[in-house]
Amino acid sequence: MLSLAVDQLSKTYPNGTVALNRVSFRAHPGEGIVLLGANGSGKSTLLRCMVGLEKPSSGSIRVGDAWIETANANQLRLLRRQIGIVFQRFNLVSSLSTFHNVLQGALGRSKGPRYWFPATAPQRERERVMQCLERVNLAHLAQQRVDTLSGGQQQRVAIARMLMQDPSLLLVDEPVASLDPKSGREAMDLLWDIVRERQLTVICTLHQLDLAKDYADRIIGLRHGAIQIDAPAHQLTDHELSWLYESSTLDTIETPT
Ligand SMILES: Nc1ncnc2c1ncn2[C@@H]1O[C@H](COP(=O)(O)OP(=O)(O)OP(=O)(O)O)[C@@H](O)[C@H]1O
Ligand SMILES: [Mg+2]
Repeated sequence: MLSLAVDQLSKTYPNGTVALNRVSFRAHPGEGIVLLGANGSGKSTLLRCMVGLEKPSSGSIRVGDAWIETANANQLRLLRRQIGIVFQRFNLVSSLSTFHNVLQGALGRSKGPRYWFPATAPQRERERVMQCLERVNLAHLAQQRVDTLSGGQQQRVAIARMLMQDPSLLLVDEPVASLDPKSGREAMDLLWDIVRERQLTVICTLHQLDLAKDYADRIIGLRHGAIQIDAPAHQLTDHELSWLYESSTLDTIETPT
C-alpha cells in the first residue's frame, strides 16, 4: 500500500492549453478512486504526471516518501516499479505472445537480458507468469500472439502483466472504453477483485457513471482541469455527476464560433 499526495498541481501544455489547474487531493492506502470528467478535462494528463510521463508546470506529487517531479532517473525507475499502469489501448507488444507480454511485467525489478525472453527467464519467473495468467483465466492462451486476442482478452493480458509487476499503486485509464458492456463489467470485476485482494490504492478514469458508482469508494470529478467534485461515491447523486458533463456541453455551446 502506497500513499499518494497531489498538491496544487497545474499543467499547461506548450501550446497554451491549461490541462490541470491547481489539483490537490490525497489518496489513502487501499482507497479506490474513480476519476470522472468530460473529454479533455485533464484525467489522462493527471495520470501521466503521476508516473512522470508528463512534467507538471507547478505543484507537487508525492508517492510514498518520494516526490515525482524532483526524482532523478534512478529514483523514477524505482518509483515506476511500484506504480502499475493499465491503459485503454492496453500498451501490449502486439507481435509477442501473451506469455511474453506478461513476462515484461517483471522487467522493472529484474536484472539483465535473461529476463527479456521466455526461454531464458528463470523458472521462478516463468511459473509466476503462468500464475498471473491463471488468475485472469488466460493460461490456455499463453502462447498465442496478443494481436489475435479479443479486446476483452487483451485487457486481461494487461491486468496479468500488472499482477506480474506487483505494484502498490495502480493507475487505470479508461479500462473499458473499447469493450462491450458485458466485457467491460467483467474487466472491472476482475480488476477490482485484484485491487481488494492486494489492497492496492487505485485511481481509475471512467466515462460510465453507473460503473463509477458501483466500483468507486470515492469519486473525483474534473472540469476544465480543476476538481469540482470530491466525495464518497455513495453520497453523490446522478444529477451531481451528470452535471460534470452538462456544464461542459454548455461551455462548448457558449464558445463563440
Ligand atoms: N501533448 C499535448 N499537447 C497539447 N495539449 C494536450 C496534450 N495532451 C493533452 N492535451 C490537451 O489537454 C487537455 C486535457 O487532455 P487529457 O487527455 O488529459 O483529457 P482527458 O480528460 O483524459 O480526456 P478524454 O476523456 O478524452 O480522455 C485537452 O484539452 C487536450 O487537448
Ligand atoms: Mg484521457
